[in-house]
This record gives sequence, C-alpha cells and structure tokens, in this order.
Amino acid sequence: MNKTFKALVVEEKEDDIVAKLKECELTDLGEGGTIIKAVYTGVNYKDALATIKNGGVIRNYPMIPGIDVVGEIIETTDLILKKGDRVVVTGNGLGVTHTGGFSEIVRVPNEWVVKLPEMVDDKKAATIGTAGITALQAISQLEKIGLSDKNARILVTGATGGVGSIAIAMLKSLGYDNITALSRKKNEAYLQQLGAKDIIGLEEFMPEKIKPLQKQNFDYVIDTIGGESVAAILPQINYGGGIALCGNASGIKFSTTVLPFILRGITMVGIDSVQLSNDVKTTIWNRIGNELDEALLAKISNEEESLENIESVVTSLLEGSHSGRTLIKI
Ligand SMILES: NC(=O)c1ccc[n+]([C@@H]2O[C@H](COP(=O)([O-])OP(=O)(O)OC[C@H]3O[C@@H](n4cnc5c(N)ncnc54)[C@H](OP(=O)(O)O)[C@@H]3O)[C@@H](O)[C@H]2O)c1
Repeated sequence: MNKTFKALVVEEKEDDIVAKLKECELTDLGEGGTIIKAVYTGVNYKDALATIKNGGVIRNYPMIPGIDVVGEIIETTDLILKKGDRVVVTGNGLGVTHTGGFSEIVRVPNEWVVKLPEMVDDKKAATIGTAGITALQAISQLEKIGLSDKNARILVTGATGGVGSIAIAMLKSLGYDNITALSRKKNEAYLQQLGAKDIIGLEEFMPEKIKPLQKQNFDYVIDTIGGESVAAILPQINYGGGIALCGNASGIKFSTTVLPFILRGITMVGIDSVQLSNDVKTTIWNRIGNELDEALLAKISNEEESLENIESVVTSLLEGSHSGRTLIKI
C-alpha cells in the first residue's frame, strides 16, 4: 500500500464548506481494524448533502464523505474476514462521523464489514449500495405487514432516484406487476424498463385540497420523498395496506389525520438503513444476489464518474435532476 492516497475531503473554510481532492495518509482516517482498497463507491443524496453548507449530515470537519464503499480487504484484525475478501460497507457512521468511501483507502471497525456473496460483483454491489439496501428493507417491511399478492397496487415515489429505481426493479423481479411510479421527471421509458406499469407526474398527483379519506388507489407505498406528498398519499391507501417511509427528498414535514389509520387500519413503517445489523444486511445482500433480475438491474442507470468529477453529480442530486445511481470508480 502506498503511504499516501487520494480522498475527497470536506472542510470548513471561513463561513463556507469546501470539498477538495487531497493526498491523505492512514492517520487521516477513522479508527478501525479493517483496511479496504476501495474499488467503487456510489453517490447518494446524503453524500450530496454532506458536501454543502447546512447539509445537516456532517458535524465535525474535516471529513471524508461517502456512505458506501465496495472494495478488497488489504489488512484486517478480524478473525473471520481475511485479506483479499471482497466486501461492502454501508451505513453505521461511514462518511458521516467516520471517514467514508470517497477515498482510495478506507479504514473501518471490523463489525461494519459485510462480505459480498459470490454472485454479487463489485459493480452490482456499488449500483445497489445504501440506496438498494433501503429499497430492499422497505420491501421486506411491507412484506411483514402483508404485501404478498403479486397484483397488489404498489406506488413508488421519487421513482427515478436511487432508492426509487432499485425499489421498482426489485419489486418487478419479485413478480409484482402493478407498480405505479410517481415522478417529477416522468422519464417514462426509463421507468417502464425498470418495471413500472403506470407513471404519474408529481404535479398532477397533488390535489388542490387533501381530503382525510379518498379513493383507495394503492395497497402499498414505498415513499422516498416525504413532505406533503405523504399527506396526499395516506388517504389513498387501501384498507389494511401500508406505507414505508424511506426519505425526505421533498421535505420532512407533513400534516395528516388519524382517519386512514383508524378507519382503514393502514400501517406506516419507518425505514432506516444506517443502523441495520450485519445479519440483516447479509440477508439483504443474499436476497439481491438470488432474487434481483440481472436484466432489470442492468437497466438501472449507473454511469461511472471519477472522484475528480463528483461536483456535477452532487449538483444534479441536489437539483433532483439525477436518475438512478452514479458510481465513482476509484
Ligand atoms: N432511510 C434511510 O436509511 C435512507 C437511505 C438512503 C436514502 N434515504 C433517503 O431517501 C431519499 C432518496 O434517496 P436517493 O439516494 O434515492 O436520492 P436521489 O437519487 O436523489 O432520488 C431522489 C428522487 O426524489 C425525487 N425528488 C428530488 N427532489 C424532489 C423534490 N423537491 N420534490 C419531489 N421529489 C423530489 C426525484 O425523483 P423523480 O424526479 O423521479 O420524482 C429524485 O430523483 C433521500 O431523502 C435520502 O436521504 C434514506
């Protein structure tokens, strides 16, 4: 291993936040027993927030962002993991409180490291990343509250985004045929290729006035945008159905009534990918390896960029004009 390596470092400068590619050393990295040579990382919405002022992700600077990393172990003190293992790290404090994946070399606590199953190659793992873990966790939680009928009417919001794209592709892989994509962009060809049957624009979806109960249009919902659109969705969920709340791309607040809950028995589940145990993550990675249709996965937009060009990716994520996933080849 070279003594120095490149990493994107976010620093506080005067009254601003600046992100710069820098030469770093091991002493610049967070503590941990496993050192990984990064092969890929993916750029998530949270990573975009990590590089801007008041993004609410990073509290202590300097910090190397990047909440995902896929790579090969070059050193470990773990008793089970070994040098050469292909691994993935997502969540925990990676790229938030602990130096992250936008770096050629990554050092993490052993217990954060998940060994990749044989059938998930590095690029596939990076395409999935935190976005895919979140999507899969949302599907698993909806299955726990009753999702099983392959004709269930399922709504996915923020549909062209990372979480949204993977949720649609995975649902389709599992045989669900009645998927509606809610999207500002309405990139119909892309969403149909992933498996969406119907596509609705966010503007036309939002009613002028939200009634406490409306026509029961959807059985289950995977929401990635949060905000007032959730208030518009809840009255449309069918009796006994449910919604998994994953994200806040459009906002954190919504106001609603108890009626969909007490008159239609609907369930709202919160999805967190950060503090999932390694057992849950391993189950998710195996599920991805065994159940995600390769042909659909290949349709998820996954352009490759270099660490040098991360700024334009961040801008498109923050503007909401980005589609699918962008991978950083390290
Ligand atoms: N709970 C967790 O553990 C967890 C894990 C990962 C991500 N997240 C959260 O999940 C959300 C999605 O993450 P991501 O990585 O998929 O982000 P992303 O790739 O940027 O996708 C977000 C999508 O939401 C839509 N969108 C963006 N801004 C919007 C706005 N102002 N109003 C309405 N729609 C908007 C866009 O899709 P359309 O143009 O198709 O509408 C966009 O592509 C983020 O809030 C992220 O923080 C949570």
